[in-house]
Amino acid sequence: MNNEIGIYIHIPFCLKKCFYCDFNSYADKENLIEKYVFALCKEILENSEILSEYKVTTIYIGGGTPSYIDPKYIKQIMDTIYLCIDKSSVEEITIEANPNSITKEKLEIYKMSGINRLSIGLQSNHNSILKKIGRVHTIEDFEKALDIANSVGMENISLDLIYPLPDLSFNQFKDTVDYVVSLKSKNIKHISVYNLEVHENTKLAFLLNENYVSLVDEDEEYEMYKYLKDTLQNNGYNRYEISNYAISGYESKHNLRYWNQELYLGFGAGASSFFGGTRYKNETSIEKYIDNILNNKSVIIEKEELDLLSLIKEYIILQLRKIEGLSLSAFKSKYKKDIYSLFSIEIAQLEKDGLLVKDNDNIKLTSRGLEVANLAWEKFI
Ligand SMILES: C[S@@+](CC[C@H](N)C(=O)[O-])C[C@H]1O[C@@H](n2cnc3c(N)ncnc32)[C@H](O)[C@@H]1O
Ligand code: SF4
Repeated sequence: MNNEIGIYIHIPFCLKKCFYCDFNSYADKENLIEKYVFALCKEILENSEILSEYKVTTIYIGGGTPSYIDPKYIKQIMDTIYLCIDKSSVEEITIEANPNSITKEKLEIYKMSGINRLSIGLQSNHNSILKKIGRVHTIEDFEKALDIANSVGMENISLDLIYPLPDLSFNQFKDTVDYVVSLKSKNIKHISVYNLEVHENTKLAFLLNENYVSLVDEDEEYEMYKYLKDTLQNNGYNRYEISNYAISGYESKHNLRYWNQELYLGFGAGASSFFGGTRYKNETSIEKYIDNILNNKSVIIEKEELDLLSLIKEYIILQLRKIEGLSLSAFKSKYKKDIYSLFSIEIAQLEKDGLLVKDNDNIKLTSRGLEVANLAWEKFI
């Protein structure tokens, strides 16, 4: 039982679809919740033999909006997981929540189920902007939710922000950043700030194409980025990954598992897994997922066995997402190879372009490299 593993649980239900969201999440499918949770628990139990062979250190309940469904289902899922694993090895259990669906009763049940980290989707502190992106909550809902979380003793809270957002000005964004750092004493230990992705076929793509809303230009976006990075850093939130900042010791253990190319099993519709050098993805449709599970059919729709070179390239890209970069000795012990024997030309070119530096045992992206990380990653694709 030396090997460690993480568990990801996908809850694909939301009260309403946000305009920018392309996640595997659905509104108006509440009638399927009970059956879905039953099927999800069946999928977990079917993997109990594998789970019992590993030390599960992290569990992440994401979505969709896990806090939207009745907390009895979250308890049911956690109880099922606990039947399959040695509970004592679990260090971090996160649940994602939307501010308007957080109640005292829910958080108390989460805590009793061992959940010790709450990730709240705030996105912006301006009601006018929240409305423009189709969020169901207001800043007042968030403040209430944060007070409830503190009152029940949730000591590890993470916030999600997105930038730029439709019609968001630099000053409004500055205000959002100042606002989130002012909440530090309310157990905000971690802040994720995602760069807006505009996905085809979303309402946001339509609104932008039709000029109903607009985004700031590149220069202003860069000003936002600089303000964000400096302000979070100056307030004790260390940037440890391209989009993630944390008070020291509160980096997301589960997400670090992804960036360190470590094992995890995903359960639920659309969930993915990384196990035995292979990436798997589950059926995304809730209906088909339930149907297949109940009829004892496989729910895996994608299976990619990575050859050694693909694994190595993926590892390098994932490691370069971290601000500390890739440890040369860790690379050698994991892959029994010297990275320079494989990628000396690419590394030299990135160094020459000022995008990558060697720092003792590590190679890592420079400040400039982090700004144009895609250009650096391309060298390893
Ligand atoms: C599953 S959601 C978090 C929980 C909950 N569903 C919510 O939105 O409050 C994960 C996070 O992904 C981010 N996200 C979703 N779609 C995005 C997009 N198109 N661009 C950037 N970030 C996005 C949001 O910050 C969101 O909070
Ligand atoms: S609540 Fe979260 S998962 Fe649901 S639609 Fe909005 S961003 Fe997507």
